[in-house]
Amino acid sequence: MPYKRITLTHFLLQEQRRLGGSGSFTALMTDIIFACKMISHEVNRGALAGNLGVAGSENVQGEEQKKLDVLANDIFLHMNALGGSYAGMASEELEDVHAVKGAADGKYLLLFDPLDGSSNIDVNISVGSIFSILKLPEGASTIEEAAFLQKGVTQVAAGYALYGSSTMLVLTTGNGVNGFTLDQNVGMFLLTHPDMTIPADTKEFAINASRERFWEPPVKRYVDECRQGKEGPRGKDFNMRWVASMVAEVHRILCRGGVFLYPADSENIKKGGKLRLMYEANPMAFIIEQAGGAATTGRGRMMEVEPTALHQRVPVILGSKNEVERIGAYHAEYDAKA
Ligand code: AHG
Ligand code: MN
Ligand code: MN
Repeated sequence: MPYKRITLTHFLLQEQRRLGGSGSFTALMTDIIFACKMISHEVNRGALAGNLGVAGSENVQGEEQKKLDVLANDIFLHMNALGGSYAGMASEELEDVHAVKGAADGKYLLLFDPLDGSSNIDVNISVGSIFSILKLPEGASTIEEAAFLQKGVTQVAAGYALYGSSTMLVLTTGNGVNGFTLDQNVGMFLLTHPDMTIPADTKEFAINASRERFWEPPVKRYVDECRQGKEGPRGKDFNMRWVASMVAEVHRILCRGGVFLYPADSENIKKGGKLRLMYEANPMAFIIEQAGGAATTGRGRMMEVEPTALHQRVPVILGSKNEVERIGAYHAEYDAKA
């Protein structure tokens, strides 16, 4: 059989030709690809490189930082400053936005969660990196928080790297979703999952069930109905998964369908939810929608949420379209009665 593999770089060049672009998009993705390869290497070396364990510091959100959170953040900041594409960056691990020195021509903004699923680092379970690319707004001369506070619908591109049993990079530029697997021997991402699509129906859900006592009635109703299986109103058996790495959950949903919930509950609602809008929920929502799925807060489309703060948290419900719509309808019914 003739050799047909396409590298991520060639894929980006093809896209660029199709769009008649100037090459700047390929350049800005190149920096992210380098960063993800280097983080993959550090995650993979794990204990051998002394990379496991805590860093002894907290991030702005009061979360304990792991050594790899700090290292991955440093790698992302450094690699993505080199190409000059980004005027500024924002990260889960940085309180304030980061203006890129010497990037006077940078036309884009990069938001990222350098390492998602940190609680899984020390136990050798999949973690990932999530990124969202925005355009620097017209006329924005200084890199301040306001420039980053754009709705999810304005994203130019979004993606994640999954450091799992193989390392993958999954990307959307608003023209479907494609997945690339890192060939460690040649150091290249190769297209292995073209045009990823999510089935509209599913028999699998993901939620941290230890929080059940805090759930709102519509979430409780949905999960109860799933758990009743064939005998219940859904008339079919459901399976449940919870990895505690959002990247891994989203990847599973892209591969075989499913629904992921980190809803608002009576405890996390004080902070707005658990997951962060700008560098977790919005990029994943863009990918999920581009693959034919849906992403909401339970009470509205995720990518329409008007951001008010860089580290804003939101309830997240995403995945197979019919399930996400059903959960949204349960919220609407409940709110109408309240
Ligand atoms: P991070 O490691 O970047 O802080 O994100 C962790 C997130 C997400 O990946 C995951 O779905 C969720 O937190 C896990 O939460 P629980 O610990 O409540 O299961
Ligand atoms: Mn995260
Ligand atoms: Mn993180």
